[in-house]
Amino acid sequence: MDFVLVSPFTKLLTHSRFLLTLRSQEDHYHSLILFRLSATSQPENLEQSQSSISSDGCKDLPSSHPYRQLYAMESACPHLGADMSHADIEECESSLVAVCPWHRYDFDLRTGNSETGLKACTYAIEVKNDPSDGIDKVWVEAPEGGTNWRIVELRPVSEEFADPPPISADPDPLVNQAASISPIEEDVVPVKDAPTTLMQWAVLILNTANPTLKVQRTKHAVHLFRTGKLSSIGNKSPTAPKPPAVPPREDSYTRNIVDPRKSGKKKNAAVMLHALANIEQWALIIHLYSWDIIARFGPSHPDIPHAFFSDFTKMALDESKHFTLLTSRLLATSPNTPYGSLPVHAGLWESATITAHSLRARLAIIHLVHEARGLDVNPGTIDRFRRTGDKESVAALEVIHADEVTHVTSGHRWFTWICEQQGVDAVSTFREEVRRGWRGDIKGPFNAEARETAGMTREYYEGLRGEMDFVDKRTDASATVDHDESMAPASVRVEYEG
Ligand code: FES
Repeated sequence: MDFVLVSPFTKLLTHSRFLLTLRSQEDHYHSLILFRLSATSQPENLEQSQSSISSDGCKDLPSSHPYRQLYAMESACPHLGADMSHADIEECESSLVAVCPWHRYDFDLRTGNSETGLKACTYAIEVKNDPSDGIDKVWVEAPEGGTNWRIVELRPVSEEFADPPPISADPDPLVNQAASISPIEEDVVPVKDAPTTLMQWAVLILNTANPTLKVQRTKHAVHLFRTGKLSSIGNKSPTAPKPPAVPPREDSYTRNIVDPRKSGKKKNAAVMLHALANIEQWALIIHLYSWDIIARFGPSHPDIPHAFFSDFTKMALDESKHFTLLTSRLLATSPNTPYGSLPVHAGLWESATITAHSLRARLAIIHLVHEARGLDVNPGTIDRFRRTGDKESVAALEVIHADEVTHVTSGHRWFTWICEQQGVDAVSTFREEVRRGWRGDIKGPFNAEARETAGMTREYYEGLRGEMDFVDKRTDASATVDHDESMAPASVRVEYEG
């Protein structure tokens, strides 16, 4: 049995469950949930109980030991694919079971067996002492169907923002701050025709102009979806609602749109934060990375796995979080230039329009070009804020960067999935999509390490040039779009003087 290194055990003390995403050398993905059931949360308590650990693992430890209280299970329920990250854990006679939030089927955490006859995939866990540094590390059994598995994402499930409380009791000060930017005048859940499927929520949110309300609706919809209160995706329904061709935006956010090449030359922190918030705002408003991809391509790909919707609802929540973090930093550092008061550009929207006909093209251009470029420039942006001593903005941007690595990972996951479905090679197909849907060079310098973590090895992007002369004959639509690097997230080429 092969095992994959997860992390030092002490790093798992922050939360009781984690999403693990593994990728094999063949670009196969698996998502698991790691449950840590022990109450131990203090390293000193742990030290008292770990005396018998050896490099051979923890099999000889008593069953109550924290190292024996770790379980891993496939993240998608074997019934209809619900996300098991919010499963209830219950004791059932002599066993422990994870209870799916959708239809309450229970699955034994050790064997995966269910009284219903279904079986969930479970994975063995070991904790071993690493003699090279003396640290106890957690390993998980490698999935079948691939080689050289590695962990590409280890994400706590129960982050406060990512796991929002019910809207009526939302205490999040960031949201309250953002609300002062754009007060809400509608109900978060519409009184009339409240959405009952994920598709309906996606389209409602796309049609919501107020960014604060979008954040609230996104939090609420994802909370319902994750906790099983919204158990219908609705993408197979012939009456699934369609996303708007052009999502509405508030006037104050549209009147300042400028040519992207002219939007980024001023040199101060407010301009920089504003420009970054603009990217997130477009990501949020248009929901390039999340609600639009769910609503636009869910119905046209009825066999797409449930994990696709889990990934993109997570991304929707991240976009909301990023917009809120950045507008809050803008408010704190520059109250005279709230979001919407400076010129913005709509480059991401134009790339979304170009790729509206094809999930494959959308994933390639938005996630693996635009978002991957963000990975290249984020460290430099963070450094500029660090040099000024603005620790809060550095902390916000580090959160955003870490999330964006996972967004590119998801882009790569679903791009390789669709290529496999279509029987085409992922690397050469990506390069072809870029030649067709991008104008100009894919420019470095590249953050090769972050790109590689996300699955983007060098053969994807090196020496690549887009040849788009934007007349899109495939959709019989034509438009003139400047689509150079200045539109990418990296396009926030605002030099910061501090
Ligand atoms: S019991 Fe999990 S999806 Fe139905």
